[in-house]
Parts: sequence; C-alpha cells; structure tokens
Amino acid sequence: MSMLSDVASETVDLAFADPPFNLGKAYSSKINDALHEEDYLAWCRQWLDEIIRTVKPGGSVFLYNLPKWNLQLGAYASRSLTFRHWITVDMKYSLPIQNRLYPAHYSLLYLVKGDRPSIFHPDRLPVPSCRHCGGEQRDYGGYKDKMNPKGVSLTDVWTDIPPVRHAKYKKRAANALPLKLMDRIVSMASDPGSLVLDPFGGSGTTFVAAELNGRRWVGSELDCADAISRFEDLEPDKAHLSEIHANKNVLFTEASLKARKKNGKPLSDKYRVQVPTSAADNPECTCTSCSSGVQGQLFS
Ligand SMILES: C[S@@+](CC[C@H](N)C(=O)[O-])C[C@H]1O[C@@H](n2cnc3c(N)ncnc32)[C@H](O)[C@@H]1O
Repeated sequence: MSMLSDVASETVDLAFADPPFNLGKAYSSKINDALHEEDYLAWCRQWLDEIIRTVKPGGSVFLYNLPKWNLQLGAYASRSLTFRHWITVDMKYSLPIQNRLYPAHYSLLYLVKGDRPSIFHPDRLPVPSCRHCGGEQRDYGGYKDKMNPKGVSLTDVWTDIPPVRHAKYKKRAANALPLKLMDRIVSMASDPGSLVLDPFGGSGTTFVAAELNGRRWVGSELDCADAISRFEDLEPDKAHLSEIHANKNVLFTEASLKARKKNGKPLSDKYRVQVPTSAADNPECTCTSCSSGVQGQLFS
C-alpha cells in the first residue's frame, strides 16, 4: 500500500477500496485482520487520506465495507469529499446471529471530490422478468410506452449481483468480488483512458474490469499471486464480461427475450425494444476485449 504515496496528487479518476473488514479472517498475505476497533479505523483513515489526495477534482471514490465500518469511514471521508450515495449491495455474508438481524448487505459508499462527478453514466438494467415465461415481475401498466429502450434506471439498492460461487469464476478461496459489481462501478464513474486506482487488489477484479473496459489502472496487493495468474489468461474474464455487457443497457435480457418469444409474450414495439446481438454491437459498449496489451500496473 506504500505504492499509494507514489501516486501523484489529483491524477486518479476513480478510486475503489475493498480493504480487509477486520473480521479475524486468515489472508494469504498474513495481515492482522483482528485489530482493535480504533486501530483498524486509524489504519483506514491513513489510506483514505492518500486516496483523497490522489483523486482529481470531480473524481469518484467508492468504499466497500461492512455497514459498521462504512458508517465511520463515510463520516470521516465526507469532511473532504461530497457524499453521493450509500449503495446497498444485497448479499448475505454470515450466518444468522442470535438477537441480531441477519446481515444481508454490504455498504458501497460513493463520494466525489468537489460538488459533482465529472464522469457519471450509470448502467441501465433489464426489466426483472420471470425465468420461466419471460413476463415482467412488476406491472409497468400504463407506462410501457414510456419505458427507456435501454432498460430501467439504476437505483441505490443492487439486488442483482451474484456472489462469486461458481468454480468457473472463482479466482481465490475467498473475498473476490464479482466482476459484474466492478464492471458496474468502472462503467459508471470512468471513461476509456481514465485512471482507476485500487489499493487492495486481491484477486484483481478491479484491474480486470478496468483493463477489459479500456481504462488505465494502478493498484497494490500484499500477495499478488492470484491477480498475476488471472492476468496470465484473461479469456474466461473476457467471456464473462461479454455476457455481462450483453445483458445491461437493454430492456430484456437475452434469456428473457427467448422465453418471451417462446411464450408468445409481446416483444412489443411499445417498448421500442432494441437488442444488441452481442456486446460488440452495442454502441454503449466500451469493452476492449479484442485489444491486447495490459494497461495497468500492480505493486506488491
Ligand atoms: C477484501 S480483499 C480484496 C479483494 C478484491 N477486491 C478482489 O476482488 O479480489 C482485501 C485485500 O487487501 C490486501 N491487503 C491488506 N493489507 C494490505 C496492504 N497494506 N497493502 C496492500 N494490500 C493489502 C489483502 O491481502 C487482501 O487480498
């Protein structure tokens, strides 16, 4: 993380941090993940100060953590940054605890340096549809003709991010974030050529999302083995990202369109549906899956 002090001030467009959560977990980097609360927060404030220094005016900062820590970190960061959103990422992360509510979301804090972000283009999401018949799960009734053909507006509650369980996508034993989450953040708050910073790289999900979306990136990690081996073969991530891109900024996913056709549901012109046949045909898609040459730097 000492890499952070080498990053020039006000050069970063998007900073993302997913630090250890101080839950007493074992990391291959052998860090102490069971600090006293005050020590953990003091450590977080150190790297947060550096992140704040490196971000450009209008640049964005995303902090991913447990609500308990983000409450404190958000209060600290908003002394020098402007709060935009507390995004709820719906995901269960522990077992039910007696006398507590079942923890079922992570907090994703979104702050910006200055009054407003210089880059902000949130993805649109497909209409939530029934897996079997392709029908809408909500009744859009009289508004069907007014719906944006690129999908519904992104809210600050994200319920469509699957945890990384599938062996195909699992890049390390634990802690790897879903590519879909990082693609959404990178797409929203950076442009092709922007500089993306992540001081806690882990398995490299941020770097992969940045790389394949044509962003420059810089980051650090104490144990870079997982990220390095991931970059040695990016094909599975490219295929995964194409699938993610093909199913965003559209009104219906490819799967629901298929089901709708099969079940005779209207592919109504009223919806003005436009379906990209692949990510590459989507003019919104900035994916550079076809280009080669790594565009970032990883420090250990
Ligand atoms: C929650 S994980 C990040 C996972 C990552 N977002 C991913 O998708 O794979 C936190 C990471 O921070 C790393 N780490 C902890 N202290 C660090 C430090 N001082 N400098 C760099 N990396 C650190 C740990 O080794 C761990 O891999």
